Amino acid sequence: MKKLNLLGFFLLSCFIASAQESTIKSSVRNVETKVDSVLALMTLEEKVGQLVQYNGSWDLTGPASEMNSKEKEENLKNGKVGAMLNVLSVEATAEAQRLVMENSRLKIPLMFGYDVIHGYTTIFPVPLAETASWDLEAMRKSAEIAALESAANGVNWTFSPMIDVSRDARWGRIMEGSGEDTYLTAKVAVAKVEGYQGNDLANSRSIAATAKHFAGYGFGEAGRDYNTVHIGENELHNTILPPFKAAAEAGVATFMNAFNDIDGTPATGHKILQRDILKRDWDWDGFVVSDWGSIPEMIPHGFAKDKMQAAEIALNAGSDMDMEGGAYESSLVELVENEKVSLDYIDDAVKRVLRVKFKLGLFDDPYLYANPALLEQISFEDHKELARDVAKKSIVLLKNEGDLLPLKDEVKNIAVIGPLADDKDTPIGNWRAQGEANSAVSLLEGLKNNAGKNVNITYAKGADLGVGERSFLMPLEINKTDKSGFEEAINTASKADMVIMALGEDAFQTGEGRSQVNIGLAGVQQELLEEIYKVNQNIVLVLINGRPLEITWASENIPAIVEAWQLGSESGNAIADVLLGNYNPSGKLPVSFPRAVGQEPLYYNQKSTGRPSNPEHVTYSGYTDEKKDALYPFGFGLSYTNFEYSDLQLSSEEMNPDGNSQASITLKNTGDVEGKEIVQLYLRDLVASTTRPVIELKGFEAVNLAPGASKTVTFEINEEMLQFYTANRKWESEAGEFEVFIGGNSRDLQKVKFSLKK
Ligand code: BGC
Repeated sequence: MKKLNLLGFFLLSCFIASAQESTIKSSVRNVETKVDSVLALMTLEEKVGQLVQYNGSWDLTGPASEMNSKEKEENLKNGKVGAMLNVLSVEATAEAQRLVMENSRLKIPLMFGYDVIHGYTTIFPVPLAETASWDLEAMRKSAEIAALESAANGVNWTFSPMIDVSRDARWGRIMEGSGEDTYLTAKVAVAKVEGYQGNDLANSRSIAATAKHFAGYGFGEAGRDYNTVHIGENELHNTILPPFKAAAEAGVATFMNAFNDIDGTPATGHKILQRDILKRDWDWDGFVVSDWGSIPEMIPHGFAKDKMQAAEIALNAGSDMDMEGGAYESSLVELVENEKVSLDYIDDAVKRVLRVKFKLGLFDDPYLYANPALLEQISFEDHKELARDVAKKSIVLLKNEGDLLPLKDEVKNIAVIGPLADDKDTPIGNWRAQGEANSAVSLLEGLKNNAGKNVNITYAKGADLGVGERSFLMPLEINKTDKSGFEEAINTASKADMVIMALGEDAFQTGEGRSQVNIGLAGVQQELLEEIYKVNQNIVLVLINGRPLEITWASENIPAIVEAWQLGSESGNAIADVLLGNYNPSGKLPVSFPRAVGQEPLYYNQKSTGRPSNPEHVTYSGYTDEKKDALYPFGFGLSYTNFEYSDLQLSSEEMNPDGNSQASITLKNTGDVEGKEIVQLYLRDLVASTTRPVIELKGFEAVNLAPGASKTVTFEINEEMLQFYTANRKWESEAGEFEVFIGGNSRDLQKVKFSLKK
């Protein structure tokens, strides 16, 4: 044993020595040998230590473990901890790393994780908003910047991207994902992983990413967070898993499992998901971290009787690391000794953790991410510019009656009204990492910064949205009674040529645990809007929110509506870019906006049902008190110009499995200004071995056109795009007829047919 220890120290110090030469280090080829050689040195206790993750600050995102910080420190020194979360700053991470490197026997460096969801210091649009840009390169870039700012602060692992498809606006975490569509979410997943991880994880500017939450978390019943998920195999494979598979193929370093149970099995204890599908079928070699405390949470789930059994179930199911749950550290050694958990499974889990640490370059230099010089090199001004760029691309123009927008030169007096109009905090959104409170450019500031001197801007708040303290863990209290600011707002509005109203949601109305049964304009906002409308109907409603809202009254009465989400640090400037016409809006909704909350979950790619529609009778699948389609459908978004689609053609109406067919359409800019259109391709499999959605997104392309210009946009359709998880329980295509749809949103589409021969 002693010999082995010496050999271990020798090996480790070799790694450290070679490290100083460059930031690009350990080649993948050598990683496996190195992992094996470290594993061979480890005692069972040390192995279990690698599977333990501690929270390191009071920055809680869930109930804390009972352990005090002194005990945690001792365990770090003794090599009983593999990773930490919420330890922030170069100094703090270096200090924790030092405890391990200077005291533990094997000196296996720690990883430091953090929820860097839409930026670290520079805050980008919340993920749902950013997805509305459909600009994968911009999303990759914002992840790259978030990674750089994190790495410069000692953080080398983000718990992002969240790639839970979600179709329920009641769920507060819908803001954290890419919306309702599987294909779009998968594309964003890859862009984000590439952005965070770069080409080489061991580059000191890139960090490890996490695909979360595996799986089904976005489908909580009734939109309630952590709630039970009822999805069958078909839905799981066709809708939920593809973004995770795409992330795994893109080389995402880690996965996080989920709090929910799926059809009777908590995701954390789900062997089929973690061990069979992820690790065996997809041959993915990273590690799975539990969600915060999700291993012991299998006790209240009624799936484990105590921590010991929870640890046994989780490890056997393929959960490799226990985040702040205290179950692995207290139970795994005993479980192995009692043969409830095999040493092979422990070894596999440890190897996965070590592999990621090697790839991150930590064995070469445990302090790689504790480099104060990196922070000095960052140009936060450049990052802000990029944040503004992606923010303006994320804005979706929902309505523009009478071309009220962009603001015309004749408009000299603008009243800016609403609780969110001069709010510098809400645009920072939830999951804001180290984004400073009140640091965003407000809408009012943005307009003042960018409108010409000849425009007179007045402001009245009208009402507060929330009252009292706002924080990550506490519920937000909404102002439902105080209308004392109404009078001033009404007066201000009545004197203006135009009113810009900023309404929506507080940052802490969406995010974890923020499910709502109402998704309209909360508090007194709707009343304020209607009062202002009585004195001035020239209203541009700017929505600042993290989830789809129920805005049926506004859609019928207000001439212009701009969906501006929570856009991050540069929010106000980006909104001003769009309102003033310096940027022609090009965003498209990644999620349906309902007519009424009762439609939720609502999504475009539904199944047909046996009774799709019949306006003459009630005995069809709809509602008697509301239409069944979306108010604003998936993929929808207007521009200051108009686009005309014509001449949809297929290169061939018959396809062989190894062939392809080109679908092309002519897109013309028929308006007066240059504009960008996101051209969308959808497919439908008309008859299949399992029922298929009425349409499914399968491609998109952004096209810029000058006024009067046109372009033929061509999509290739191949056999792979026709595949789905069939009744044979595998991904394959089936011969038969298909429809191809192309257009500017999921509702207004042109259609042609073709068949696949086999
Ligand atoms: C969330 C995760 C997050 C973790 C760590 C949990 O409550 O569900 O998404 O990464 O906390 O903060």
